[in-house]
Amino acid sequence: MKVLVIGSGGREHALVWKISQSPEVSKVYCAPGNAGISEQAELVSIKTTDLSGILEFAIKEKIDLTVVGPEDPLTRGIVDLFESKGLRIFGPTKRASEIEGSKAFAKEMMKRYGIPTASYEIFEDSEKAVSYIQEKGPPIVVKADGLAAGKGVIICRTMEEAIGAIDRIMVKRIFGEAGRRVVIEEFLEGEEASYIALTDGKTILPLASSQDHKPVFDEDQGPNTGGMGAYSPAPMINEEVDKRIVEKILRPLIYGMEKEGRPYRGVIYAGLMIKESQPKVLEFNARFGDPETQPILMRMRGDIIPLLEACIDGNLSRFRIDWDPRAAVCVVMASKGYPGDYEKGKRIEGLEEVSQMKDIFVFHAGTARMDGEIVTNGGRVLGVTGLGRSIPEAIERTYQAVKKIYWEGVHYRNDIGKKALRWIDQNRA
Ligand code: AMP
Ligand code: GLY
Repeated sequence: MKVLVIGSGGREHALVWKISQSPEVSKVYCAPGNAGISEQAELVSIKTTDLSGILEFAIKEKIDLTVVGPEDPLTRGIVDLFESKGLRIFGPTKRASEIEGSKAFAKEMMKRYGIPTASYEIFEDSEKAVSYIQEKGPPIVVKADGLAAGKGVIICRTMEEAIGAIDRIMVKRIFGEAGRRVVIEEFLEGEEASYIALTDGKTILPLASSQDHKPVFDEDQGPNTGGMGAYSPAPMINEEVDKRIVEKILRPLIYGMEKEGRPYRGVIYAGLMIKESQPKVLEFNARFGDPETQPILMRMRGDIIPLLEACIDGNLSRFRIDWDPRAAVCVVMASKGYPGDYEKGKRIEGLEEVSQMKDIFVFHAGTARMDGEIVTNGGRVLGVTGLGRSIPEAIERTYQAVKKIYWEGVHYRNDIGKKALRWIDQNRA
């Protein structure tokens, strides 16, 4: 079987790495991929937004299965396009992926189907948005409705910040059309977790739990990023919380999407805020998380291909997933300046030595090959991922590997996984 993976980040490297281990797969392509992905897949130089280019390639190469990494091609309708040509593709349709593409739609779905989330209002008029903020007061959260590369959420701790956020999103349109509407919502306290599941539109098959680390600096300081590291499993999600997430959040959502004529097949990712074991939804994503996928797939045993195919064929109820009981930790190594402007083309050292380490894998994100060497080519550059018998052991082993890798200006968080330790101590007590 020939498989095409779309995307170029750490998530896509993890998918390619896992897919290439399938006995059913003879060849993996990745468009556009990165230097690390080129070890397991043939790179195809087509942008993720060039849907007709990707389609043409899939037809020409007789691709049996296409797997979509990022949200952008999904919300542009790549799944609809492929299906209309009779090609097999893993992911939700355009109308289904609106659960990520429009925060207003996601909030309305949650309201209609009784899914716990922050209270909110939607505005198309900036003056009305400002009066609502004045009525509610800070802290308050302002979100651009559409996709804004993960930057469209502004947490406002003062009235000035909140009014400034409306001005930037709705009046100055810093996120373009994505800011035509805003969702203004209640600020939620608690701890965040990522809950990712596969679904064929009826059955929900959860992946192992995980937790991301969004702020750029240790102790959750500094601006938000795409994610500076993740670990799995997340001990905060015990059996009771897990059941609550499936029954009160995912099941009503998948039922609701079907009922509204937007049957949902693919991955559904719920970004959650959990307080006193009660989960509330911050957002839904229509794709695998990045970097959560890296530790999750390190722990997945067995073949991923039958699972992806079952989501397309509607027979997911026949499957279960076997997880490595060990913990996995992924530390993202980033370019100087990220999440702001950063430089590219810095030579990366130490990869060869780390590739010899047992139960460590370095997933590449922003890397490229230049004159035979691997250089930085993005903000998030590598996701060093390691397994250990416990979370503390996985943390230690992963950081041993991280410390062997270097380039000019590299930075990373030193406390990935530390949040889990508190829960482990509590569970033990
Ligand atoms: P989102 O893209 O909606 O997940 O938002 C990005 C980040 O903003 C989340 O990971 C949270 O850290 C934070 N956030 C979003 N909504 C809220 C909220 N209602 N209360 C507190 N923090 C939030
Ligand atoms: N790790 C956050 C995301 O994938 O959206």
